Amino acid sequence: MAVEVLETADPRAKTDLSRAHAARWRASREGGTPIDIGTAEPPDRPARPDRPELLNPRDVPRRKPGTAEGRIAMMHAVAHIELNAVDLHWDVIARFAHVPMPLGFFDDWVSAADDESKHWGLMNDCLLAAGSHYGALPAHAGMWRAAEETARDLMARLAVVPMVLEARGLDVTPGMIALFERAGESRAVEALSTIYGEEVAHVAYGSKWFHFLCGRHDLDPKVVFHDLVRRHFHGSLKPPFNEEKRADAGLPPDFYWPLVEGA
Ligand SMILES: [Fe+2]
Ligand SMILES: [Fe+2]
Repeated sequence: MAVEVLETADPRAKTDLSRAHAARWRASREGGTPIDIGTAEPPDRPARPDRPELLNPRDVPRRKPGTAEGRIAMMHAVAHIELNAVDLHWDVIARFAHVPMPLGFFDDWVSAADDESKHWGLMNDCLLAAGSHYGALPAHAGMWRAAEETARDLMARLAVVPMVLEARGLDVTPGMIALFERAGESRAVEALSTIYGEEVAHVAYGSKWFHFLCGRHDLDPKVVFHDLVRRHFHGSLKPPFNEEKRADAGLPPDFYWPLVEGA
């Protein structure tokens, strides 16, 4: 089921299939007959539509957030992040299916993939309401790099994707919500507020299962986290941090502050 989502290129079809598979998984769990985990060979890179054109980050045109065009560019960038997040969550399920994990691990990533599928739809609806659509603008080409960098190590994947990248979303989303509020764009404010509320859980899933694996291997979580992020994440962490939401998600300050450049 995870590989099917990864191999679907059209974003609407991908997110619809993702939501349908999530519902099937949930029903199987609620009925007490969980679908077999099995094993799978996910593609190196998920299938993607012809549009958006994927550009090197430095070639993606700079946005001016004070303009309507700038706000469309920002919503487009969020939609692109959400679509990547759909694939990232199904990829963790398929790629690490050989690592024995409690079923709750799969519940969490299926639920996160379901959320991201909804988030892509919310952002695409905002783009449509603004006379645009996902694919109308170029997008960041480097989004799958974190997945490639951590394709052989589940703990590295959890450290870099939910605990660094998705945690970064908690830091920057309140500023984006404020920007759309000032512009009077209530639809985007509502969509981003939903996204913001649900992303805390994704970071928390990362922290929960990272700590679980540290416990299984008798490792010091903070030491291992620092080591894995330094080895697999290119770039330093950037304050200001949303310390309150990071705490909600099980990320204490001594996990991220030492990874700030110059710290
Ligand atoms: Fe999301
Ligand atoms: Fe997320």
